[in-house]
Amino acid sequence: MKHEYPENFARFYDLIYHHMRDSVDNDYFQNVIKQTKGKVLEIGVGTGRLFSNALNQGADIYGLDISHSMLNVLYKKLPEDQHYRISLQNVIDFKFDFKFDLIIAPFRVIMHVLEKDEQIRTLNNVYDHLEKSGKFIFDAFVPDLNQLLNGIDNQVDFEGEYEPGKKIRRTVSTNPDLINQLINIRFCLEWDEDNKLKHEEWRVPLRYYFRYELEHLVERSKFEKYKIFGDYQGTELNQKSREFITICQKG
Ligand SMILES: C[S@@+](CC[C@H](N)C(=O)[O-])C[C@H]1O[C@@H](n2cnc3c(N)ncnc32)[C@H](O)[C@@H]1O
Repeated sequence: MKHEYPENFARFYDLIYHHMRDSVDNDYFQNVIKQTKGKVLEIGVGTGRLFSNALNQGADIYGLDISHSMLNVLYKKLPEDQHYRISLQNVIDFKFDFKFDLIIAPFRVIMHVLEKDEQIRTLNNVYDHLEKSGKFIFDAFVPDLNQLLNGIDNQVDFEGEYEPGKKIRRTVSTNPDLINQLINIRFCLEWDEDNKLKHEEWRVPLRYYFRYELEHLVERSKFEKYKIFGDYQGTELNQKSREFITICQKG
């Protein structure tokens, strides 16, 4: 995939997102996984930021991702006899010969799927892999209109140490493309290694959604029922909502 996470971005992913994201979504996803009696699938599992926790808690959880570099990080966290749970597949056309009671796509996975027909294929493929009354939960951010107009210019969004005495810093810039509904993101990583300051850049587009487009999309899919919440605490959508948490129900 042209926008696949580069190796060094995969390498530092957990450091950055355990810090920036766990407090927002970890409890929510661990709870819905715990409440599921049966198999769970995380599509876009990445480095297993949430997955590893769930597996350690005893969940019968599987994961797939399109990125070699992200999965390589995850494989290293798992004992070899659990590697069968992970596969390199695309959300659009993944295949399993069994079904799941819960499928989740946490942290913007769906926003990486840029084309309309691919989005519908993803939803329908998920539907086909769910048991009779299975659920699919995915999130997207509510676009910030200021950012859509002006973008962000070289904002430091993470600064810390990845090993004692070794600094790392990430900056982010965005360039909105209103007509294609994309936010083109440019991440820059700078870190100390081998007594040098290393630097790497990565550009990735995310497809943003407005509320009614999201509703139309789900309504065009095979899902019979769905509800969109405004945060991980189950608050109804309102003017302050920053997240679209979409829960699609089969049957
Ligand atoms: C922001 S990360 C989220 C990872 C993980 N779910 C988490 O919560 O930390 C998005 C992940 O989606 C994966 N991804 C993007 N497009 C994909 C596709 N078409 N099929 C499978 N995985 C995809 C990326 O490789 C990346 O690992």
